[in-house]
Amino acid sequence: MDAGNNLLLYFLLLLVIRPCFCIDSLTQSQPLKDGDFLISQGEVFQLGFFSRGKSGNRYVGVWYYKLSEKTVVWVANRDHPLTNTSGVLSVDTTGQLALSYSGTPQVLIWSSDILSTGGGNYSAKILDTGNFVLFKDQYSEKNTVWQGFDHPTDTFLPYMKLQWNKRTRENKFLTSWKSPENPASGQYSFRFNVTGSVPQLYIYDGVTPVLRAGPWNGITFSGLPEYTVSPVNDVTNLFYIDNNEEVATYYIVNTPGLFTRFVLNDEGFTERLNWNPESQKWDAFWTGPDGQCDKYAHCGAFSNCNPVKLSDQGCECLPGYQDRSGGKSPTNIFGGCVRKPGALVCNNGEGFKEVPGVKVPDATKARWQSDLGIKACKEFCLKDCSCSACMTVNITSGKGCLTWYADLIDVREFSQGGQVLYLRVDSSELAKDRTKRVLLKVLLPVLVTIILIIVLISRLLLKKKKIRAKNKNRELSHGSENSDISFMERYQDALAANDTEVHCFSANTIIAATENFSISKKLGEGGFGPVYKGQLHGGQDIAVKRLSITSTQGIEEFRNEIILIAKLQHRNLVRLLGYCIQQEKMLIYEYLPNRGLDHFIFAKKSVLNWRTRFDIATGIARGMIYLHHDSRLRIIHRDLKASNVLLDASMNPKISDFGMARIFGSDQNEETTKRVVGTYGYMSPEYAMEGLFSIKSDVFSYGVLLLEIISGRKNTSSFDAENSINLIGHVWDRWLQGKPLEIVDASLGESYDVSEVSRCIHIGLLCVQESAAIRPTMSEVASMLCNERTPSSAPEQPAFINRATVNFGSVKSCSSSGIAATKTNSVTVSIVEGR
Ligand SMILES: *[C@@H]1O[C@H](CO)[C@@H](O)[C@H](O)[C@H]1NC(C)=O
Ligand SMILES: *[C@@H]1O[C@H](CO)[C@@H](O)[C@H](O)[C@H]1NC(C)=O
Ligand SMILES: *[C@@H]1O[C@H](CO)[C@@H](O)[C@H](O)[C@H]1NC(C)=O
Ligand SMILES: *[C@@H]1O[C@H](CO)[C@@H](O)[C@H](O)[C@H]1NC(C)=O
Repeated sequence: MDAGNNLLLYFLLLLVIRPCFCIDSLTQSQPLKDGDFLISQGEVFQLGFFSRGKSGNRYVGVWYYKLSEKTVVWVANRDHPLTNTSGVLSVDTTGQLALSYSGTPQVLIWSSDILSTGGGNYSAKILDTGNFVLFKDQYSEKNTVWQGFDHPTDTFLPYMKLQWNKRTRENKFLTSWKSPENPASGQYSFRFNVTGSVPQLYIYDGVTPVLRAGPWNGITFSGLPEYTVSPVNDVTNLFYIDNNEEVATYYIVNTPGLFTRFVLNDEGFTERLNWNPESQKWDAFWTGPDGQCDKYAHCGAFSNCNPVKLSDQGCECLPGYQDRSGGKSPTNIFGGCVRKPGALVCNNGEGFKEVPGVKVPDATKARWQSDLGIKACKEFCLKDCSCSACMTVNITSGKGCLTWYADLIDVREFSQGGQVLYLRVDSSELAKDRTKRVLLKVLLPVLVTIILIIVLISRLLLKKKKIRAKNKNRELSHGSENSDISFMERYQDALAANDTEVHCFSANTIIAATENFSISKKLGEGGFGPVYKGQLHGGQDIAVKRLSITSTQGIEEFRNEIILIAKLQHRNLVRLLGYCIQQEKMLIYEYLPNRGLDHFIFAKKSVLNWRTRFDIATGIARGMIYLHHDSRLRIIHRDLKASNVLLDASMNPKISDFGMARIFGSDQNEETTKRVVGTYGYMSPEYAMEGLFSIKSDVFSYGVLLLEIISGRKNTSSFDAENSINLIGHVWDRWLQGKPLEIVDASLGESYDVSEVSRCIHIGLLCVQESAAIRPTMSEVASMLCNERTPSSAPEQPAFINRATVNFGSVKSCSSSGIAATKTNSVTVSIVEGR
């Protein structure tokens, strides 16, 4: 007999010996013994006996049939385990589902415990949704007398309902396992509380709220805005019901074949997970509580928790309120806020201040009025002097108004998806607002118009002058034009920074955009991983960086970092469009058609005339100023180099890979680091030797880059033939000899502005000075470049002109003097500072 026949015989035997091996139902005549299984018709879920850990306790549960990892989603007898393998699950003669030890008399362990529904034929069946149902005669929803979905354990599956039944006052909710090894009911629950003005969803630790997911706001639960943000939206839809019968929520899956679940784990965290067939693992793409701001009432009364704020545990008082401790809390524990003394909010010209982007405050003690728009809602609140705030939400089908009278509790800020809270404040607070608004709405446009007019007029005048004195004075017009442009650019940058939006892309979107990371789409290999070109559905070109270095951060921290970094927007920074954390970490950038600056200055030199080079140098300087001084975060780039500067279609430079040091530098938030990231040739001596970094180490790298732009040569290229060690040494030699222009790129010929180039060389040398303390800042560099300020001091000896120090000991005799490794004590600026 051959192997195929053997196999066939084996299966036939199996069928004979174990008649219920691949069936989905349990009948009165066919009980289920330990070791037997039910499998749902579509082979999605399996029901059977299982144990966890070392206890040997046996449970009846449901898990995914096909997954390599046994993921239990439901347990029948979680609090009544069997102690050996002689358990039997049956439908008894009264139509009850019963779990007992076999033998006579049978010892009952667990049962469906329903009131008898009269005689008939009862059976139980495992469905493809994971629901285990007990029904009479033929299965249908109407004939169902009991179902596992009505008794959830720790997992919220698609099509399952979390529900408060208004008639029976029964609450169906999730209860965590005691531990990963023990399915018994744990201390955490995820459930509706309907005692307040509107139903709210909570995670409780016993009876203490841990997280308030809040009331429904029309789109989602107000405390879980990220929950609906893609990729969740791609795959599921969340629903909410509030009618005469019930308050309930459930979700459905839009992607066929996707295994997805929501679980409350034994540590009190909720997780949304999707099964990743490639890695054969569950990917968590959302967890809560997410940071301290999610902790229930973390900041106390009348305060707002801002996850971006680093001090005071993110807490700040709402407008018109002040720290209860008077701002001098010795314990560093934020104790909530009280209204500022002297504020008159009762018939004294008070009004409402908008607090946008927040979570609906705890509405337990609020009042609810259906069908009131915001105008009527405000009026309603104003009528009662004890009303402290109001807000409109779409709780059910209609819009309604919430008003608060007691403390406002559990308010937090969201980067997206929050709502507007209208806070009652006195007239002085309102006046502040009005002034601001007037400034923004009236004065700013007026100012801008005036400036525009001035610019236009001065340009016209300049043009006229130019025409008149055509060949006499070309330098003059150039200088002033430059400073006008830089002002306008700064203004535009400020405007652009307002519409920042960062997306969480789904892995499927990225895979589709890059044709599954096809080799033909690969643009190159950056310091942190390969970069691919992609095209989104709408036709937008993107660049996708797959991060090969795994950061030590968790997914949430990583995401927060990216959201922070995505807020940095400047015309000289590559724009970060979004990220993907579904299967691996990826960053999605705007796509730039031109290659890196290195390609142009070292290879295709002829493209770059002096004017373009100069503009590129000033553009990079502006981008660096923004990173160092102008943005909300202080970012030290740490790897500024020619290949990290990309050029757009009009040769406008854009710095890339900024913020990478921040994402991957969680162990390096001090002023020193053990792991030196950076590129040989661009690293400052204090950084390369001792791991000390600061904005001045970026200035050093900028100086190297500037000298490279002028000379068209790599700092690390060999200069031995000319008796110098590297570009810096070469420039320094020529500088000392009084012949700096000898270093200028030969391909420029004579077509450059001598004084401008000399100034740039001077600035470059100032930047690469050995002592960090005397290097200029990036803003000083920019103003020197634009000739607003002349380089006052002569440069001192640069670092790294002796090869012995560059190679960390690989000695090569060299005529240049000085070893560039003295410790610099003045450098203590940390890499990141919240602003
Ligand atoms: C299993 O345990 C139950 C309860 O302790 C006991 O009644 C039964 O005899 C045991 N069965 C076997 C096979 O050990
Ligand atoms: C139960 O089912 C059996 C076999 O399917 C049938 O003979 C019997 O009449 C049914 N009894 C009732 C009460 O429906
Ligand atoms: C609902 O919330 C109220 C107020 O916080 C609390 O007293 C009550 O115990 C909660 N009910 C449930 C079922 O958790
Ligand atoms: C509430 O519903 C209205 C219209 O139905 C919609 O315009 C508004 O954006 C919704 N608000 C929220 C917070 O969902």
